[in-house]
Amino acid sequence: MKNKILKKVVAILVGISFITPFFTQIKAAETDAVLENIQKKGKLTIGLSADYPPYEFHATVDGKDKVVGADVSMGEKIAKDLGVELVVEELGFDALLGSMKTGKVDLIISGMSPTPERQKEVNFTDPYIRIQQKVLIRKTDAEKYKNITDFNGKKVAAQKQTTQEALAQNELVGSTVVSLQKVTDVVLNLQNNKVDGAVIEGPVAEAYALQNPQLMVSDITFADGESDMAIAVSKDAPALLAKVNETVKEINDQNLMETYKQEAAQYMFHDDSSFLEKYGMNYVKGAGYTIFLAFVGVLFGALLGTLLALMKLSQTKVFRWIAAIYIEYVRGTPLLVQIFLVYFGSAALNLELNALTAGCIALFLNSGAYVAEIIRAGIQAVNKGQLEAARSLGMTQQQSMKKIILPQAIKNILPALGNEFVTVIKESSVVSVIGVSELMFQAGVVQGASFKPFLPIVLVSIVYFILTFTLSRVIGVAERRMSSSD
Ligand code: ARG
Repeated sequence: MKNKILKKVVAILVGISFITPFFTQIKAAETDAVLENIQKKGKLTIGLSADYPPYEFHATVDGKDKVVGADVSMGEKIAKDLGVELVVEELGFDALLGSMKTGKVDLIISGMSPTPERQKEVNFTDPYIRIQQKVLIRKTDAEKYKNITDFNGKKVAAQKQTTQEALAQNELVGSTVVSLQKVTDVVLNLQNNKVDGAVIEGPVAEAYALQNPQLMVSDITFADGESDMAIAVSKDAPALLAKVNETVKEINDQNLMETYKQEAAQYMFHDDSSFLEKYGMNYVKGAGYTIFLAFVGVLFGALLGTLLALMKLSQTKVFRWIAAIYIEYVRGTPLLVQIFLVYFGSAALNLELNALTAGCIALFLNSGAYVAEIIRAGIQAVNKGQLEAARSLGMTQQQSMKKIILPQAIKNILPALGNEFVTVIKESSVVSVIGVSELMFQAGVVQGASFKPFLPIVLVSIVYFILTFTLSRVIGVAERRMSSSD
Protein backbone atom coordinates (compact mmCIF):
# COMPACT_ATOMS: atom_id res chain seq x y z
CA MET A 1 0.00 0.00 0.00
CA LYS A 2 2.64 2.42 1.12
CA ASN A 3 4.72 1.33 -1.82
CA LYS A 4 1.95 2.05 -4.27
CA ILE A 5 1.49 5.58 -3.01
CA LEU A 6 5.19 6.15 -3.14
CA LYS A 7 5.32 4.90 -6.73
CA LYS A 8 2.48 7.20 -7.68
CA VAL A 9 4.15 10.19 -6.09
CA VAL A 10 7.39 9.41 -7.87
CA ALA A 11 5.55 8.97 -11.16
CA ILE A 12 3.85 12.33 -10.75
CA LEU A 13 7.06 14.05 -9.81
CA VAL A 14 8.85 12.58 -12.81
CA GLY A 15 5.95 13.62 -14.98
CA ILE A 16 6.02 17.18 -13.69
CA SER A 17 9.75 17.47 -14.13
CA PHE A 18 9.34 16.40 -17.74
CA ILE A 19 6.52 18.75 -18.52
CA THR A 20 7.63 21.92 -16.74
CA PRO A 21 10.56 22.65 -19.04
CA PHE A 22 8.12 22.71 -21.94
CA PHE A 23 5.88 25.11 -20.16
CA THR A 24 8.64 27.43 -19.12
CA GLN A 25 10.04 27.34 -22.61
CA ILE A 26 6.73 28.32 -24.15
CA LYS A 27 6.44 31.06 -21.57
CA ALA A 28 9.98 32.33 -22.27
CA ALA A 29 9.23 32.61 -25.95
CA GLU A 30 6.17 34.74 -25.33
CA THR A 31 7.95 37.44 -23.46
CA ASP A 32 11.26 38.26 -21.80
CA ALA A 33 12.61 40.87 -19.44
CA VAL A 34 13.85 43.18 -22.20
CA LEU A 35 10.57 43.06 -24.12
CA GLU A 36 8.59 43.57 -20.93
CA ASN A 37 10.69 46.60 -20.09
CA ILE A 38 10.15 48.06 -23.55
CA GLN A 39 6.42 47.65 -23.19
CA LYS A 40 6.43 49.04 -19.67
CA LYS A 41 8.35 52.15 -20.72
CA GLY A 42 6.45 52.45 -23.98
CA LYS A 43 9.80 53.09 -25.63
CA LEU A 44 12.12 51.12 -27.87
CA THR A 45 15.69 52.40 -27.74
CA ILE A 46 17.87 51.62 -30.73
CA GLY A 47 21.61 52.24 -30.77
CA LEU A 48 23.45 53.38 -33.88
CA SER A 49 26.44 55.27 -35.21
CA ALA A 50 24.96 58.03 -37.36
CA ASP A 51 27.77 58.27 -39.89
CA TYR A 52 26.38 55.83 -42.41
CA PRO A 53 24.29 57.33 -45.20
CA PRO A 54 21.86 56.12 -46.50
CA TYR A 55 21.32 53.92 -43.43
CA GLU A 56 21.83 56.32 -40.53
CA PHE A 57 22.95 59.90 -40.71
CA HIS A 58 22.09 63.39 -39.54
CA ALA A 59 19.95 65.66 -41.62
CA THR A 60 18.09 68.91 -41.08
CA VAL A 61 14.39 68.16 -41.20
CA ASP A 62 12.08 71.18 -40.90
CA GLY A 63 14.94 73.25 -39.57
CA LYS A 64 15.79 70.67 -36.91
CA ASP A 65 18.65 68.23 -36.75
CA LYS A 66 17.52 64.60 -36.83
CA VAL A 67 19.00 61.16 -37.27
CA VAL A 68 17.38 59.68 -40.37
CA GLY A 69 18.00 56.86 -42.83
CA ALA A 70 16.81 53.43 -43.84
CA ASP A 71 17.84 51.80 -40.56
CA VAL A 72 15.93 54.45 -38.63
CA SER A 73 12.83 53.88 -40.79
CA MET A 74 13.16 50.20 -40.00
CA GLY A 75 13.41 51.02 -36.30
CA GLU A 76 10.27 53.10 -36.61
CA LYS A 77 8.42 50.20 -38.14
CA ILE A 78 9.58 47.81 -35.44
CA ALA A 79 8.54 50.26 -32.74
CA LYS A 80 5.17 50.68 -34.40
CA ASP A 81 4.68 46.92 -34.60
CA LEU A 82 5.51 46.68 -30.90
CA GLY A 83 3.10 49.52 -30.18
CA VAL A 84 5.76 51.76 -28.63
CA GLU A 85 7.68 54.92 -29.39
CA LEU A 86 11.13 54.92 -30.99
CA VAL A 87 14.13 56.47 -29.23
CA VAL A 88 17.41 56.79 -31.11
CA GLU A 89 20.60 56.65 -29.05
CA GLU A 90 23.67 57.73 -30.94
CA LEU A 91 27.02 56.19 -30.05
CA GLY A 92 30.34 55.33 -31.62
CA PHE A 93 30.13 52.09 -33.59
CA ASP A 94 32.68 50.51 -31.26
CA ALA A 95 30.55 51.32 -28.21
CA LEU A 96 27.34 49.73 -29.50
CA LEU A 97 27.80 46.16 -28.31
CA GLY A 98 28.89 47.35 -24.88
CA SER A 99 25.84 49.52 -24.51
CA MET A 100 23.61 46.60 -25.37
CA LYS A 101 25.31 44.48 -22.71
CA THR A 102 24.68 47.16 -20.09
CA GLY A 103 21.07 47.56 -21.19
CA LYS A 104 21.41 51.10 -22.53
CA VAL A 105 19.92 50.09 -25.86
CA ASP A 106 17.33 47.45 -26.74
CA LEU A 107 18.36 46.89 -30.35
CA ILE A 108 21.37 47.78 -32.46
CA ILE A 109 20.33 48.86 -35.95
CA SER A 110 23.52 50.25 -37.37
CA GLY A 111 24.33 48.36 -40.53
CA MET A 112 25.92 45.75 -38.31
CA SER A 113 27.07 42.49 -39.82
CA PRO A 114 26.47 39.26 -37.91
CA THR A 115 30.05 38.03 -37.53
CA PRO A 116 30.89 34.87 -35.53
CA GLU A 117 32.66 36.94 -32.83
CA ARG A 118 29.66 39.20 -32.38
CA GLN A 119 27.31 36.23 -32.38
CA LYS A 120 29.04 35.07 -29.22
CA GLU A 121 27.92 38.27 -27.50
CA VAL A 122 24.49 38.96 -28.98
CA ASN A 123 21.83 37.41 -31.19
CA PHE A 124 21.08 38.66 -34.67
CA THR A 125 17.82 38.79 -36.61
CA ASP A 126 17.64 37.52 -40.15
CA PRO A 127 19.65 39.77 -42.45
CA TYR A 128 17.82 42.63 -44.16
CA ILE A 129 20.50 43.58 -46.64
CA ARG A 130 23.41 42.03 -48.46
CA ILE A 131 26.07 44.33 -49.85
CA GLN A 132 29.55 44.55 -51.35
CA GLN A 133 32.55 46.14 -49.73
CA LYS A 134 34.22 48.85 -51.76
CA VAL A 135 37.32 50.99 -51.69
CA LEU A 136 36.86 54.75 -51.83
CA ILE A 137 39.79 56.62 -53.41
CA ARG A 138 40.64 60.11 -54.67
CA LYS A 139 39.72 60.72 -58.29
CA THR A 140 43.25 61.82 -59.05
CA ASP A 141 44.43 58.32 -58.09
CA ALA A 142 41.99 56.52 -60.39
CA GLU A 143 44.82 55.02 -62.46
CA LYS A 144 46.94 54.05 -59.47
CA TYR A 145 44.54 51.82 -57.59
CA LYS A 146 42.82 49.16 -59.63
CA ASN A 147 43.57 46.05 -57.65
CA ILE A 148 43.77 44.97 -54.03
CA THR A 149 47.53 44.47 -54.43
CA ASP A 150 48.03 48.13 -55.39
CA PHE A 151 47.85 49.20 -51.75
CA ASN A 152 51.12 47.52 -50.88
CA GLY A 153 53.09 49.96 -48.71
CA LYS A 154 50.17 52.42 -48.59
CA LYS A 155 47.84 53.51 -45.83
CA VAL A 156 44.16 52.70 -45.90
CA ALA A 157 41.51 53.76 -43.43
CA ALA A 158 38.48 51.94 -42.05
CA GLN A 159 36.06 52.41 -39.20
CA LYS A 160 37.20 50.92 -35.92
CA GLN A 161 35.92 47.46 -35.02
CA THR A 162 34.03 46.95 -38.24
CA THR A 163 34.18 44.20 -40.82
CA GLN A 164 35.83 46.76 -43.12
CA GLU A 165 38.74 47.06 -40.73
CA ALA A 166 39.18 43.28 -40.78
CA LEU A 167 38.82 43.15 -44.54
CA ALA A 168 41.47 45.79 -45.07
CA GLN A 169 43.81 43.89 -42.79
CA ASN A 170 43.14 40.55 -44.48
CA GLU A 171 42.95 41.44 -48.14
CA LEU A 172 44.78 44.70 -48.83
CA VAL A 173 48.13 42.98 -48.55
CA GLY A 174 51.06 45.06 -47.42
CA SER A 175 48.94 48.07 -46.47
CA THR A 176 48.86 49.78 -43.10
CA VAL A 177 45.34 50.02 -41.76
CA VAL A 178 44.36 53.19 -39.92
CA SER A 179 41.33 52.55 -37.71
CA LEU A 180 39.12 55.52 -36.92
CA GLN A 181 36.05 56.10 -34.80
CA LYS A 182 33.66 57.55 -37.31
CA VAL A 183 33.23 56.99 -41.02
CA THR A 184 33.35 60.77 -41.38
CA ASP A 185 36.90 60.63 -39.97
CA VAL A 186 37.72 57.94 -42.50
CA VAL A 187 36.56 60.16 -45.36
CA LEU A 188 38.33 63.19 -43.91
CA ASN A 189 41.61 61.29 -43.84
CA LEU A 190 41.19 60.26 -47.44
CA GLN A 191 40.37 63.78 -48.59
CA ASN A 192 43.41 65.18 -46.88
CA ASN A 193 45.87 62.66 -48.26
CA LYS A 194 46.44 61.06 -44.88
CA VAL A 195 45.49 57.71 -46.39
CA ASP A 196 45.14 56.53 -49.97
CA GLY A 197 42.06 54.40 -49.71
CA ALA A 198 39.11 53.75 -47.45
CA VAL A 199 37.26 50.47 -47.15
CA ILE A 200 33.56 51.26 -46.89
CA GLU A 201 30.37 49.41 -47.64
CA GLY A 202 29.15 49.97 -51.21
CA PRO A 203 26.07 52.17 -50.81
CA VAL A 204 27.77 54.19 -48.08
CA ALA A 205 30.85 54.73 -50.23
CA GLU A 206 28.55 55.87 -53.07
CA ALA A 207 26.83 58.34 -50.76
CA TYR A 208 30.12 59.86 -49.65
CA ALA A 209 31.42 59.98 -53.23
CA LEU A 210 28.30 61.84 -54.34
CA GLN A 211 28.87 64.47 -51.69
CA ASN A 212 32.60 64.77 -52.24
CA PRO A 213 33.34 65.40 -55.92
CA GLN A 214 37.04 64.72 -55.46
CA LEU A 215 36.37 61.14 -54.32
CA MET A 216 35.24 58.07 -56.24
CA VAL A 217 34.36 54.44 -55.62
CA SER A 218 36.95 52.20 -57.27
CA ASP A 219 36.13 48.96 -59.09
CA ILE A 220 38.34 46.95 -56.78
CA THR A 221 36.60 43.81 -55.54
CA PHE A 222 37.40 41.68 -52.52
CA ALA A 223 37.43 37.90 -52.40
CA ASP A 224 35.41 37.92 -49.20
CA GLY A 225 33.71 41.21 -49.87
CA GLU A 226 30.06 40.45 -49.37
CA SER A 227 28.36 40.99 -46.08
CA ASP A 228 24.97 41.05 -44.43
CA MET A 229 23.37 43.59 -42.20
CA ALA A 230 21.16 42.46 -39.38
CA ILE A 231 19.73 43.77 -36.14
CA ALA A 232 21.46 42.82 -32.89
CA VAL A 233 19.31 41.74 -29.96
CA SER A 234 20.42 40.82 -26.46
CA LYS A 235 20.90 37.11 -25.75
CA ASP A 236 18.46 37.56 -22.87
CA ALA A 237 15.67 38.60 -25.20
CA PRO A 238 14.51 35.63 -27.28
CA ALA A 239 10.93 36.85 -27.40
CA LEU A 240 11.96 40.29 -28.59
CA LEU A 241 14.13 38.62 -31.23
CA ALA A 242 11.17 36.61 -32.50
CA LYS A 243 9.00 39.73 -32.66
CA VAL A 244 11.64 41.78 -34.48
CA ASN A 245 12.18 38.92 -36.91
CA GLU A 246 8.51 39.09 -37.87
CA THR A 247 8.94 42.74 -38.85
CA VAL A 248 12.20 42.00 -40.66
CA LYS A 249 10.45 39.29 -42.64
CA GLU A 250 7.74 41.70 -43.64
CA ILE A 251 10.32 44.30 -44.66
CA ASN A 252 12.15 41.72 -46.75
CA ASP A 253 9.02 40.29 -48.34
CA GLN A 254 7.76 43.70 -49.37
CA ASN A 255 11.19 45.01 -50.32
CA LEU A 256 10.62 47.95 -47.99
CA MET A 257 14.34 48.60 -47.56
CA GLU A 258 14.40 50.03 -51.11
CA THR A 259 11.61 52.44 -50.27
CA TYR A 260 13.37 53.47 -47.07
CA LYS A 261 16.59 54.06 -48.98
CA GLN A 262 14.87 56.26 -51.52
CA GLU A 263 13.28 58.26 -48.74
CA ALA A 264 16.70 58.66 -47.15
CA ALA A 265 18.20 59.87 -50.42
CA GLN A 266 15.92 62.92 -50.32
CA TYR A 267 17.50 64.02 -47.07
CA MET A 268 20.97 63.47 -48.44
CA PHE A 269 20.83 65.80 -51.38
CA HIS A 270 18.68 68.76 -50.61
CA ASP A 271 20.85 71.81 -50.57
CA ASP A 272 19.41 75.28 -50.58
CA SER A 273 20.52 77.19 -47.51
CA SER A 274 24.06 78.19 -46.59
CA PHE A 275 26.31 76.21 -44.29
CA LEU A 276 25.85 78.51 -41.33
CA GLU A 277 22.13 78.80 -41.86
CA LYS A 278 21.88 75.04 -41.83
CA TYR A 279 24.27 74.20 -39.05
CA GLY A 280 24.68 77.39 -37.05
CA MET A 281 22.15 76.19 -34.50
CA ASN A 282 24.18 73.04 -33.93
CA TYR A 283 27.05 75.16 -32.68
CA VAL A 284 24.84 77.36 -30.55
CA LYS A 285 23.20 74.34 -28.97
CA GLY A 286 26.55 72.63 -28.54
CA ALA A 287 28.07 75.69 -26.88
CA GLY A 288 25.14 75.77 -24.48
CA TYR A 289 25.78 72.19 -23.42
CA THR A 290 29.53 72.74 -23.19
CA ILE A 291 29.12 75.75 -20.91
CA PHE A 292 26.61 73.86 -18.81
CA LEU A 293 28.91 70.84 -18.49
CA ALA A 294 31.91 72.97 -17.59
CA PHE A 295 29.94 75.06 -15.13
CA VAL A 296 28.44 72.10 -13.30
CA GLY A 297 31.80 70.31 -13.48
CA VAL A 298 33.74 73.16 -11.90
CA LEU A 299 31.05 74.09 -9.36
CA PHE A 300 30.69 70.60 -7.92
CA GLY A 301 34.36 70.00 -8.58
CA ALA A 302 35.14 72.98 -6.33
CA LEU A 303 32.98 71.57 -3.54
CA LEU A 304 34.55 68.14 -3.84
CA GLY A 305 37.98 69.70 -4.21
CA THR A 306 37.57 71.77 -1.04
CA LEU A 307 36.55 68.68 0.87
CA LEU A 308 39.50 66.71 -0.51
CA ALA A 309 41.94 69.53 0.22
CA LEU A 310 40.75 69.81 3.81
CA MET A 311 41.06 66.04 4.15
CA LYS A 312 44.54 66.18 2.76
CA LEU A 313 45.59 68.88 5.21
CA SER A 314 43.83 67.29 8.15
CA GLN A 315 45.53 65.81 11.19
CA THR A 316 43.78 62.50 10.73
CA LYS A 317 45.79 59.96 8.82
CA VAL A 318 42.83 58.07 7.28
CA PHE A 319 41.45 61.25 5.77
CA ARG A 320 44.82 62.17 4.35
CA TRP A 321 45.14 58.71 2.84
CA ILE A 322 41.69 58.60 1.28
CA ALA A 323 42.15 62.04 -0.26
CA ALA A 324 45.63 61.22 -1.52
CA ILE A 325 44.55 57.95 -3.13
CA TYR A 326 41.55 59.58 -4.80
CA ILE A 327 43.56 62.49 -6.15
CA GLU A 328 46.39 60.32 -7.43
CA TYR A 329 44.02 57.85 -9.04
CA VAL A 330 41.94 60.46 -10.82
CA ARG A 331 44.95 62.40 -11.99
CA GLY A 332 46.67 59.21 -13.09
CA THR A 333 43.89 57.93 -15.35
CA PRO A 334 42.55 59.44 -18.57
CA LEU A 335 39.32 61.41 -18.45
CA LEU A 336 38.06 59.30 -21.34
CA VAL A 337 38.37 56.18 -19.20
CA GLN A 338 36.66 57.88 -16.26
CA ILE A 339 33.75 58.88 -18.46
CA PHE A 340 33.22 55.31 -19.56
CA LEU A 341 33.60 54.14 -15.94
CA VAL A 342 30.80 56.43 -14.82
CA TYR A 343 28.59 55.85 -17.85
CA PHE A 344 28.78 52.07 -18.01
CA GLY A 345 29.47 51.66 -14.30
CA SER A 346 26.23 53.36 -13.40
CA ALA A 347 24.38 51.03 -15.74
CA ALA A 348 26.06 48.03 -14.15
CA LEU A 349 24.85 49.35 -10.77
CA ASN A 350 21.35 49.65 -12.24
CA LEU A 351 21.31 53.44 -11.94
CA GLU A 352 19.59 54.88 -14.94
CA LEU A 353 21.86 57.82 -15.69
CA ASN A 354 21.42 59.56 -18.99
CA ALA A 355 24.49 60.61 -20.93
CA LEU A 356 24.35 64.24 -19.79
CA THR A 357 24.16 63.34 -16.10
CA ALA A 358 26.92 60.78 -16.47
CA GLY A 359 29.04 63.36 -18.28
CA CYS A 360 28.52 65.97 -15.55
CA ILE A 361 29.37 63.46 -12.84
CA ALA A 362 32.51 62.28 -14.60
CA LEU A 363 33.65 65.87 -15.14
CA PHE A 364 33.15 66.96 -11.55
CA LEU A 365 34.73 63.81 -10.12
CA ASN A 366 37.70 64.54 -12.37
CA SER A 367 37.83 68.26 -11.75
CA GLY A 368 37.54 67.73 -7.99
CA ALA A 369 40.95 66.07 -7.89
CA TYR A 370 42.61 68.98 -9.67
CA VAL A 371 40.77 71.60 -7.64
CA ALA A 372 41.88 69.83 -4.45
CA GLU A 373 45.49 70.33 -5.44
CA ILE A 374 44.84 73.96 -6.37
CA ILE A 375 43.31 74.64 -2.97
CA ARG A 376 45.95 72.72 -1.03
CA ALA A 377 48.74 74.51 -2.86
CA GLY A 378 46.95 77.83 -2.34
CA ILE A 379 46.77 77.27 1.39
CA GLN A 380 50.29 76.01 1.69
CA ALA A 381 51.64 78.91 -0.30
CA VAL A 382 50.68 81.23 2.52
CA ASN A 383 53.80 81.76 4.54
CA LYS A 384 54.11 79.31 7.42
CA GLY A 385 55.21 82.10 9.72
CA GLN A 386 51.77 83.60 9.45
CA LEU A 387 50.19 80.59 11.07
CA GLU A 388 52.78 80.62 13.81
CA ALA A 389 52.27 84.34 14.36
CA ALA A 390 48.51 83.88 14.55
CA ARG A 391 48.89 81.00 16.96
CA SER A 392 51.25 82.94 19.17
CA LEU A 393 48.66 85.71 19.34
CA GLY A 394 46.50 83.13 21.04
CA MET A 395 44.29 82.12 18.12
CA THR A 396 43.28 78.48 17.81
CA GLN A 397 44.26 76.49 14.74
CA GLN A 398 40.74 76.93 13.34
CA GLN A 399 40.59 80.64 14.07
CA SER A 400 43.90 81.34 12.45
CA MET A 401 42.89 79.30 9.42
CA LYS A 402 39.66 81.24 9.04
CA LYS A 403 40.94 84.73 9.85
CA ILE A 404 44.49 84.77 8.59
CA ILE A 405 45.34 81.94 6.23
CA LEU A 406 42.19 81.40 4.13
CA PRO A 407 41.62 85.05 3.15
CA GLN A 408 45.14 85.13 1.74
CA ALA A 409 44.86 81.66 0.20
CA ILE A 410 41.72 82.68 -1.68
CA LYS A 411 43.81 85.14 -3.67
CA ASN A 412 45.99 82.31 -4.89
CA ILE A 413 43.09 79.97 -5.42
CA LEU A 414 40.56 82.01 -7.38
CA PRO A 415 42.64 82.68 -10.49
CA ALA A 416 43.73 79.05 -10.61
CA LEU A 417 40.12 78.02 -10.30
CA GLY A 418 39.33 80.23 -13.27
CA ASN A 419 41.97 78.45 -15.28
CA GLU A 420 40.45 75.16 -14.21
CA PHE A 421 37.18 76.39 -15.72
CA VAL A 422 38.98 77.02 -19.01
CA THR A 423 40.51 73.56 -18.85
CA VAL A 424 37.19 71.89 -18.16
CA ILE A 425 35.58 73.68 -21.12
CA LYS A 426 38.17 72.09 -23.35
CA GLU A 427 38.16 68.70 -21.64
CA SER A 428 34.38 68.45 -21.75
CA SER A 429 34.78 67.72 -25.45
CA VAL A 430 35.63 64.17 -24.44
CA VAL A 431 32.11 63.47 -23.18
CA SER A 432 30.99 63.51 -26.79
CA VAL A 433 31.94 59.81 -26.83
CA ILE A 434 28.89 58.91 -24.78
CA GLY A 435 26.62 61.03 -26.92
CA VAL A 436 26.17 64.27 -24.96
CA SER A 437 25.26 66.89 -27.56
CA GLU A 438 27.98 69.35 -26.61
CA LEU A 439 30.20 71.21 -29.08
CA MET A 440 32.45 68.37 -30.18
CA PHE A 441 29.53 66.06 -30.64
CA GLN A 442 27.74 68.69 -32.69
CA ALA A 443 30.82 69.10 -34.86
CA GLY A 444 30.62 65.38 -35.59
CA VAL A 445 26.93 65.75 -36.36
CA VAL A 446 27.64 68.56 -38.80
CA GLN A 447 30.41 66.50 -40.41
CA GLY A 448 27.98 63.67 -40.98
CA ALA A 449 25.15 65.85 -42.19
CA SER A 450 27.18 68.09 -44.48
CA PHE A 451 29.59 65.39 -45.68
CA LYS A 452 32.26 67.97 -45.06
CA PRO A 453 34.79 66.54 -42.68
CA PHE A 454 37.08 69.54 -42.23
CA LEU A 455 35.12 72.78 -42.06
CA PRO A 456 32.97 71.73 -39.08
CA ILE A 457 36.15 71.09 -37.08
CA VAL A 458 37.62 74.47 -37.98
CA LEU A 459 34.41 76.12 -36.85
CA VAL A 460 34.26 74.21 -33.60
CA SER A 461 37.83 75.18 -32.81
CA ILE A 462 36.86 78.82 -33.27
CA VAL A 463 33.86 78.47 -30.98
CA TYR A 464 36.00 76.81 -28.29
CA PHE A 465 38.54 79.55 -28.65
CA ILE A 466 35.96 82.29 -28.29
CA LEU A 467 34.68 80.65 -25.12
CA THR A 468 38.05 80.10 -23.49
CA PHE A 469 39.58 83.40 -24.61
CA THR A 470 36.66 85.41 -23.27
CA LEU A 471 36.80 83.54 -20.01
CA SER A 472 40.56 84.04 -19.61
CA ARG A 473 40.13 87.79 -20.17
CA VAL A 474 37.43 87.93 -17.51
CA ILE A 475 39.65 86.02 -15.12
CA GLY A 476 42.55 88.34 -15.94
CA VAL A 477 40.50 91.41 -15.04
CA ALA A 478 39.31 89.83 -11.81
CA GLU A 479 42.87 88.90 -10.93
CA ARG A 480 44.13 92.44 -11.44
CA ARG A 481 41.29 93.81 -9.33
CA MET A 482 42.20 91.47 -6.53
CA SER A 483 45.91 92.21 -6.58
CA SER A 484 45.24 95.95 -6.58
CA SER A 485 43.34 95.45 -3.34
CA ASP A 486 46.57 94.32 -1.69
N1 ARG B 1 28.83 46.37 -41.56
C1 ARG B 1 30.02 46.76 -40.89
C2 ARG B 1 30.19 45.99 -39.62
O1 ARG B 1 29.30 45.39 -39.13
C3 ARG B 1 30.11 48.24 -40.63
C4 ARG B 1 28.93 48.88 -40.01
C5 ARG B 1 29.21 50.30 -39.61
N2 ARG B 1 28.02 50.96 -39.24
C6 ARG B 1 27.94 52.27 -38.97
N3 ARG B 1 26.77 52.77 -38.69
N4 ARG B 1 28.99 53.02 -38.99
O2 ARG B 1 31.24 45.96 -39.06
